[in-house]
Amino acid sequence: MQHQKVLVLDFGGQYNQLIARRVRDLKVYCDLKPCDMTAEEIRAYDPIGIIFTGGPNSVYDENAPHIDKSVLALGIPVLGICYGAQLIAYTLGGKVEHATASEYGKRELRIEKDTPMSEGVPSKSICWMSHTDRIVDLPEGFDRLASTASCPVALYGSEEKKIYGIQFHPEVVHSEYGNKLLENFLYRVCGARGDWTMSGFVSEQIAHLKKKLAGGKVLLAMSGGVDSAVAAVLVHRAVGRNLTCVFVDHGLLRKYEAEEVMRVFRGELGMNLVKADAGERFLKKLEGVADPEAKRKIIGAEFIKVFEEEANKIGAVDFLVQGTIYPDVIESGKGKSAVIKSHHNVGGLPDVVDFKEIVEPLRDLFKDEVRRVGLELGLPEEVVWRQPFPGPGLAVRIMGEITRERLETVRDADYIFREEIAKAGLSRKIWQYFAAVTSCKTVGVQGDFRTYEEVIALRAVTSVDAMTADWARIPFEVLERVSNRITNEVKHANRVVYDITSKPPATIEWE
Ligand code: XMP
Repeated sequence: MQHQKVLVLDFGGQYNQLIARRVRDLKVYCDLKPCDMTAEEIRAYDPIGIIFTGGPNSVYDENAPHIDKSVLALGIPVLGICYGAQLIAYTLGGKVEHATASEYGKRELRIEKDTPMSEGVPSKSICWMSHTDRIVDLPEGFDRLASTASCPVALYGSEEKKIYGIQFHPEVVHSEYGNKLLENFLYRVCGARGDWTMSGFVSEQIAHLKKKLAGGKVLLAMSGGVDSAVAAVLVHRAVGRNLTCVFVDHGLLRKYEAEEVMRVFRGELGMNLVKADAGERFLKKLEGVADPEAKRKIIGAEFIKVFEEEANKIGAVDFLVQGTIYPDVIESGKGKSAVIKSHHNVGGLPDVVDFKEIVEPLRDLFKDEVRRVGLELGLPEEVVWRQPFPGPGLAVRIMGEITRERLETVRDADYIFREEIAKAGLSRKIWQYFAAVTSCKTVGVQGDFRTYEEVIALRAVTSVDAMTADWARIPFEVLERVSNRITNEVKHANRVVYDITSKPPATIEWE
């Protein structure tokens, strides 16, 4: 089925993915594309509407991204947000002015003229502003539709041209009726039908995969993470046991994690899942290695070797399934990723598998959509809401050398932390939470004995995308219980500390 599509043109603002996610939540498919698309390319893409996002520039900056006037003459509805709104006004002959001070935070929005955009929006509500420049004169044919005390043009537009601009950020939750404005743009201005739903996606994808993969041999590397799990179940629904999943247990997983993967995917879902028990091999390779980057490289290389051996046992396959998701696609499109840590993902796998074609059934989905697809497919909540876990696993949560003993210590401490977070009902409120074994030993006293044991660090952060993070304000009582239990129940741990550093300057992981 052909979905209606909205084009979100990316002018570089920090909330741009969020705008695209909001549009998708409103059941309209959209793509986030670079802002230099030409009118011809846009026409070929055939969207029902275009959204210009915010961005860090002023329209007067030397290198500020601009658009060709012809884009605004295509007859396709356009909504500009923040920089996007200023750009439309400027391009069509309005006036944008540098303000001396930035306006930042919550403001009262007053609707001045009713249009389809403001249907259902009360005359006064709260909106969230973040800008320096502002629009002072509108182009001909455009009306001022709403303002705030310090921003004369907070919303403007032309009903006839179907072009609107919003100075504030409708996509953030602090804008009370922001979602309503986006909904109005999509449904009342662009004529959206709301044909993008996850149940629809599941049935369409299964039908598509059935056709595409018919009779072929299919292979997937299962990590236990959400993306590969959802991709696996989707493909399994389409081709059943023609799909083989290989799960490399590198021995650096959390407590009971490998067992859980086997129970759910092989036991409950009856999938053809092969587990490679490679823990010993990895431990041997890591003997005496303390440097974080060296650990990552060794684990990455060994992972590919083990996978290659398993793939060789299976022989040539027709399709290799990967759990690539939409943010991976967008970022690689921009070509910007600064490598701070050499992340080991399954990127090297295609080289070692004899296959004809790569299949990426989730490449159009945002993470929250992947989760909803997982739930549609009946995956258990623990799998769907699993917190991100680094490919090198516990190896980067043990500072310095990895030994069997230290692995046991970090595993047990981490398990207790996870149990207590779950009991306190905090699991979904925290992005990632885990225990790390520091390379520091301190003196303690247990009973009548002096001890000299490991310091366990607890790390818990809130985040939206792992690019930045803040330490989670976990109630002291929960931390107290975790600390008591770790020092009582975990071997070789006599002290617990809580990490109160944000990212930046720290990272989420300790290594
Ligand atoms: P940092 O520690 O850089 O982590 O703030 C950001 C996110 O990435 C995860 N992470 C990794 N994931 N391989 C991965 O697949 C890695 O080597 C790796 N290192 C960090 C981390 O858990 C967080 O979600």
